[in-house]
Amino acid sequence: MRSLIDILDFTVEELDELIDLANDIIENPEKYSEKCKGKKLATLFFEPSTRTRLSFEAAMLELGGSVLGFSEANSSSAAKGESVADTAKTISCYADIIAMRHPKEGAPLVAAQNATIPVINAGDGGHNHPTQTLADLLTIKREKGGFDNLTVGFCGDLKFGRTVHSLINALSRYNGLKFVLISPEELKLPSYVKKDVLQQKNIPYEQTTDLESVMPQLDILYMTRVQRERFFNEEDYLRLKDSYILEPRKLRDAKPTLSIMHPLPRVNEISVAVDDDPRACYFKQVLNGKFIRMALILKLLEEAKK
Ligand code: NCD
Repeated sequence: MRSLIDILDFTVEELDELIDLANDIIENPEKYSEKCKGKKLATLFFEPSTRTRLSFEAAMLELGGSVLGFSEANSSSAAKGESVADTAKTISCYADIIAMRHPKEGAPLVAAQNATIPVINAGDGGHNHPTQTLADLLTIKREKGGFDNLTVGFCGDLKFGRTVHSLINALSRYNGLKFVLISPEELKLPSYVKKDVLQQKNIPYEQTTDLESVMPQLDILYMTRVQRERFFNEEDYLRLKDSYILEPRKLRDAKPTLSIMHPLPRVNEISVAVDDDPRACYFKQVLNGKFIRMALILKLLEEAKK
């Protein structure tokens, strides 16, 4: 059974096809409005979410399907001690496809190994978030026309930010990219990502604590929230949370073609004054997230038939 647990589960060609499909859905939504009639998506969210869960639900509804699920661990049998494996087997009896978010790294993989229907990883701890990456890739494709030869800055919590890990993995398969990693010392990109992805593929990267000094070279600036829920103590969070606040004056030396991205939710790291800048793309990412999830649901349900 085909699932999406890690963005690398899909080849570059498959990602291209998904992006093309999402673009076709954007152009011709009526063509797809009954494609999932009679099908059910289960959203199993053991961690908070607004965009990911509701965009999955909106995606399935716009495909003519229906949705069921829960939005907190406490309202499911996980609170009684049920294992992820048993939950996955159970939901396989009720639904046709699962989207799961879980605080534990690897939980969606365990679900996929036990379900008899496709499982989509909607975020597992500080590890991966492949469907946010799909939204990011669709946004980059629409803004930049492609993925080659871009200088991409990631700023904020690169240690716990799962969207960063998945996007770096995805982009590492294209040509001529350079990454600029901007974070406080304590929140640097994990060494396993640096070793297994950047160094192994010989991708040039630079690490810095200073956003403004690298701004002029960036084609994309991917801002992130400091991931409070993954900190061991509140004091560290409070000390680090406002390390970077993007304000209009800090964009003075940025390229006119810069794309400012953020997976959202934002806390303080992008001032609302930046929202009116034509280079701000984060609400486009939100909308693109729904269309690419429509494409993903279609693909996985199609493959499940085989
Ligand atoms: C992200 C996540 O859950 O990792 N949110 C999202 O799904 N768009 C980013 C975050 O929570 O900071």
